[in-house]
Amino acid sequence: MKPSIYITRKIPDGVLNLLQEHCHVNMWEEEDIPVSREVLAKEIAEVDGLFCLLTEEIDADLIEQAPKLKVISNMAVGYNNIDVQYAASKGIIVTNTPGVLTETTADLTFALLMAVSRRIVEAEHFLQAGEWKTWSPMLLTGQDVFGATLGIIGLGRIGEAVARRAKGFNMNVLYHNRSRKREAEETIGIQYAELEQLLKTSDFICVLTPYTEETRNLISYEQFALMKNSAVLINTSRGGIVNEEALYQALLEGKIWGAGLDVFEQEPVPLDHPLLTLPNVVAVPHIGSASIQTRLKMAKLAAENLINGLYGKPVKHVVTG
Ligand code: DGY
Repeated sequence: MKPSIYITRKIPDGVLNLLQEHCHVNMWEEEDIPVSREVLAKEIAEVDGLFCLLTEEIDADLIEQAPKLKVISNMAVGYNNIDVQYAASKGIIVTNTPGVLTETTADLTFALLMAVSRRIVEAEHFLQAGEWKTWSPMLLTGQDVFGATLGIIGLGRIGEAVARRAKGFNMNVLYHNRSRKREAEETIGIQYAELEQLLKTSDFICVLTPYTEETRNLISYEQFALMKNSAVLINTSRGGIVNEEALYQALLEGKIWGAGLDVFEQEPVPLDHPLLTLPNVVAVPHIGSASIQTRLKMAKLAAENLINGLYGKPVKHVVTG
């Protein structure tokens, strides 16, 4: 008998067909509206597998309501939305989608870095508002990227991909990571730094570490105080790693120069959020992996993880917390 699964959002037809070949499928039919917790709790009560997104909070309470659940497949590389420890205690496998989104997320990280440093969004608004009266020597001047120092916090796959891009801009690249990556140091040409040293010396700081208890508020008042006044902070990982109040104060008081944010503590970020009032913030709605090709690959990989897990085949991307 085919296992039964629930999919928490409308997914592309090709991937849906693949899942339907192997499973009885129930799916939340909306693309832009997340499934409510009530509906999700009801749906997972009967299923063997769950295909979910980072927008669903799969906590112990919810898992408790799914006595048959064997596999939770998250269509994301980050899995802080899932209580992985609790799932493991119930014998449930949790999977994610690493690898396929690395380069796309690195592209967006670099795009934000460029956009903030060269004031692209501000300049576009300036032009559209009819404020462009003449060329003038210091109009809309930004920060140089070429040859500057980049500090990467969290040298996973995406961190390395950002570092490779930075080398193309002749940047001096520092990284901070739980463990040293000597091979990457040699092959990419980057240097390890303690966090304090990285914060003090970098012109650009990219936050790319996973969100865990240890990295929550990793960048807060104390850390902003160490940064250069000309520093640009980019966060394409998870909102809670950077303390948003501290970031707002740092930007307001000129302790740093600008910020590029793809992620927020609360998503969607409320439109009255103070950070959105600042001209030196470029904010985008969690689109790090949002290329057509990559999102299709993520959906397919999440489907394969789920099918393999349910059919007792080897699953490549099991997360253990
Ligand atoms: C992830 O995969 O964790 C990203 O945040 C979305 O692609």
